[in-house]
Amino acid sequence: MATINSNFLKLKAGYLFPEISRRVSAYTEANPDKAARIIRCGIGDVTEPLPSAVREAMHSAVDEQGDRSSFKGYGPEQGYEFLRQAIVDNQFAGLGISADEVFISDGSKCDTGNILDIFGKGNVIAITDPVYPVYVDTNVMAGNTGEADENGAYDGLLYMPCTAENNFVADVPTEKADLIYLCFPNNPTGAVATRSQLAAWVKYAKANDAIILYDAAYEAFIQDDDVPHSIFEIEGAKDCAIEFRSFSKNGGFTGVRCAYTVIPKSLSGRTAEGTPVPIHQLWSRRHSTKFNGASYPVQKGAAAVFSEEGKKQVSALISHYMGNAKLFREACLALGLSVFGGENAPYVWVGCPEGITSWQMFDKMLEEAQVVITPGSGFGSAGEGYFRISAFNSRENVEEVCSRLKALIS
Ligand code: MLT
Repeated sequence: MATINSNFLKLKAGYLFPEISRRVSAYTEANPDKAARIIRCGIGDVTEPLPSAVREAMHSAVDEQGDRSSFKGYGPEQGYEFLRQAIVDNQFAGLGISADEVFISDGSKCDTGNILDIFGKGNVIAITDPVYPVYVDTNVMAGNTGEADENGAYDGLLYMPCTAENNFVADVPTEKADLIYLCFPNNPTGAVATRSQLAAWVKYAKANDAIILYDAAYEAFIQDDDVPHSIFEIEGAKDCAIEFRSFSKNGGFTGVRCAYTVIPKSLSGRTAEGTPVPIHQLWSRRHSTKFNGASYPVQKGAAAVFSEEGKKQVSALISHYMGNAKLFREACLALGLSVFGGENAPYVWVGCPEGITSWQMFDKMLEEAQVVITPGSGFGSAGEGYFRISAFNSRENVEEVCSRLKALIS
């Protein structure tokens, strides 16, 4: 009999969002009359249709694929030059990033998980708590942790608590870490890091020969002018950081799939013997071995996000979702709840009413208001006592959720 990767057996329960879906399905099976009333503000999945600029570009790319003279088979694994260059010109202008440092993929979830392929064993992994569960679970799968304790915290990970006291931005640890996961704007708390906070992280990473895995999937939601959009805005970051970006939440690509990872050529890791090796070279090798490139129509659609029309349409989508976040913030504040995030991110992070745990709040919202939220403890033990509301929804649903919240809590 074949042996299995027994690290998988260390994983707690199901992945958070399938687990939520399972509970919602169980509820609707038991209460079929309530099914139509359910409003989902749990998973951060976009609801608004793809921008027309994107659709037109994809249609025309599909037509190209229908003509022998313009048909394309396998594309470059790292992505088409037209998209890599458009990304650099529109997202990293003036930051010294070149198109061949951008790797196109089918999602940031995949990239943040797959990146572990190129790192060795024995690295100290620093993770915020609460955190996007993919960072933790993929490290468990890769064998970088021991077992979980009763709170779901894995032995061997360096947890960095994010609380209201530090505005949900982790302080640099006193211990030495080798790989550090940071996500700003943050999922799940909606927190953003200031330039000086990021500079402290870059300084720490350089001093400790560490690499920052910087997830900027929600960058497009930043509203404040002084909040950095990229880790590469910080001097020295090109020697110590990888950045993950996505078209999922800005262009509405959750069902289309396109993202990218930026790996500066100046970034190195080292062999067990201490010889430096460029990370770019390893990721390029990994990508071309295990991935055959995002599809041509999808990459054409992604490039259209940066067209003049595309930019206007994406900006309207962002305004729509941020308008939703504002409504959620106001509704929760009016109910006397403690409210964080939702100002530079599509997630509103809310303190549960006194004496109610995160999962109790989840159940209460589902059973009494037919609203799906995400329990804070699903993102880590420091998330206990909070819940996350996703602003990805129609305005009508958001208004309805606000009035149901009011009826439920006041
Ligand atoms: C979330 O709800 O946290 C996100 O949808 C997760 C993701 O983008 O994979």
